[in-house]
Amino acid sequence: MTETATEHRIADAPRLPPATRLPAAVQSIAMLVARRRTLAALRRRHGTAFRMRVPPFGNVVVVSDPALVKQVFTTKPDVAGNPEPNLGRVLGDGSIFNLDGEPHRRRRKLLTPPFHGRRLRAYEGIVEEEARREAATWPEGREFETLEPFMRITLNVILRAVFGAEGRDLDELRDLLPRIVALGSRLAVLPTTGPIAAVANPRQRFQAYRRRYDAVADGLIARALADPRLDERDDVLAMLLQSRYEDGRSMAHRDVADELLTLLAAGHATTATTLAWTVERLSRHPRLLERLVDEADAGGSELRHATILEVQRTRPVIIATARRVNAPAMPLGEWVIPRRYTVIVGIDLVQSDDAVFPDARRFDPDRFLGAAPDTYAWIPFGGGTRRCVGAAFATLELDVVLRTLLREYELRTTDRRGERWHSRGVAFAPARGGRAVVHRRSAPARRTVDLTGTPASTSTTA
Ligand code: HEM
Repeated sequence: MTETATEHRIADAPRLPPATRLPAAVQSIAMLVARRRTLAALRRRHGTAFRMRVPPFGNVVVVSDPALVKQVFTTKPDVAGNPEPNLGRVLGDGSIFNLDGEPHRRRRKLLTPPFHGRRLRAYEGIVEEEARREAATWPEGREFETLEPFMRITLNVILRAVFGAEGRDLDELRDLLPRIVALGSRLAVLPTTGPIAAVANPRQRFQAYRRRYDAVADGLIARALADPRLDERDDVLAMLLQSRYEDGRSMAHRDVADELLTLLAAGHATTATTLAWTVERLSRHPRLLERLVDEADAGGSELRHATILEVQRTRPVIIATARRVNAPAMPLGEWVIPRRYTVIVGIDLVQSDDAVFPDARRFDPDRFLGAAPDTYAWIPFGGGTRRCVGAAFATLELDVVLRTLLREYELRTTDRRGERWHSRGVAFAPARGGRAVVHRRSAPARRTVDLTGTPASTSTTA
C-alpha cells in the first residue's frame, strides 16, 4: 500500500465525540417525549459535540458550536447531504426534500427566484390583506389562542401567493391541505413495514387526500398554462411553470404539484407558530411593546425587525436540522464522522448558549439593533445549500402581520410565566397557543420615537 493511501485510511478512521451511556431504549423514549430537554441535558453533560441514537435516524452526532455548525453547513453535499428519512417521503418524488447533490442544486435554482426581490414585494399586499381580514374577527377583551388565527393567515397567504388559487380551488385547498400536511407529518415518521405499519397505518386515507389534491393541482396547472397573461402573474405556480433548467427543460407538472405541497408543508405552520411566540413574548414585555407601537405609528421598522430576530433566536420553532454523511468519512472539527451517521445541528442549543449570545435566556431585541446576526450562530432557517428557501418570504410575512397587529390592536400585557414549549410534530409551539387579550385601537397615535427607549413626543391623529 502506498504512503498516501495509508495516510488516507488513517485520516478517515472514525474519531467520534463522547457518547451518552443511557441505554438505547431510554434515549429513544427521551427523544420522543422530551426532545428539547434531552438535547439540552446532554449538551450540559458532554459539551458542544456528542453522540447518541435517535430514531428514526440511528447513530447521530449532535453539534452546537458555531464553528462546527459552519463546517456542517459548508460541507459539500457529496460528503454530507439530505438526511433520511424526511418529510419528502410523503410529499412526493418531485419534492426538494427528496433531492440531493446536483438534482437538488438544479431545483433550488428554479425555486429561489420567486422568493426574492420584486417578486417578494408583490406578496406584501396579500399578507396585509389576509392579516387585516383575520384580525377583524378577533374577540375584544377576551383571552384567545392566537396560533389558530395565525395558521389561517399563513395558509391563505400561501394559497394565494404560492398556488395562485382563488374561488372554488381556494376553498377546496383550504380544507384539504392542512389535513394532508397533518397526516403526512405523522406518516413521515411511522415505519413503512412491520407490525406498527400494519396496525396503525393511515396510508390509505392519505392516498385518498393525495388524489384529491392532485386533481385540484392538475386543474390549477392546466388553467395557468391556458392563461394568456401567465407572464404577468406573480404567484409561485406561474413562475415555476415558466422557469427552465439550465438545459432548457421545464419542470415536470408532477414535480410542480409536489413542490407546491412542499412549500405549504414547510412554510405554513412554521410561520404561524413563530407569530404565536411573538405574541407570547410581547405580552410579557410591556416596555418593548410600547416602543414597538410607537415605532409602527411613526412608520419605522428597525426595532420590529430586531424583535423578530430575537423571537426566532429564543423560540426557534424548528429546533434542529440534519445532514447525512454520504462519504466514507466527514471531518468535523477534531472528529471524523463515518458514513451513514447523521449530523444534527442543534439550532436551539446554539442559540441558547451564553458563550454564543451573552445572557442568552434574556429576551432582548436590542442585541440586534444595528447588528446583523451571525450566519452560523443565528440559524432558525438552517444554513448552506439547504438553507430555508422561504426565509425572506417568512420574514416579510412575520413583519407585515406584526406591523398590522401593532397598528390595529392594543395587546394586553401579563405578568404570568412564559408559556412552555410544546412539540406539535415538526414545530415547537407555545403550549397554550400564544394566548392573548386584545382591544381594537380607536385612533392610532403618531409619535416621534427614540429607539433607545423613551418616546420623545406624542400627538394623536384622531
Ligand atoms: C418562520 C418560518 C420558517 C422557519 C423557521 C423555517 C425553517 C426551515 C429550516 C430550519 C429548514 C431546513 C434548513 C437546513 O436544513 O439547513 C427549512 C427548509 C425549507 N424551508 Fe423553511 N422555514 C420557514 C418558512 C418557510 C416558508 C414560508 C417556506 C416557503 C413558502 C419554506 C420553505 C422551505 C423549503 C422548500 C425548505 C427545504 C430547502 C432545501 O431542502 O433545499 N420555509 N426551513
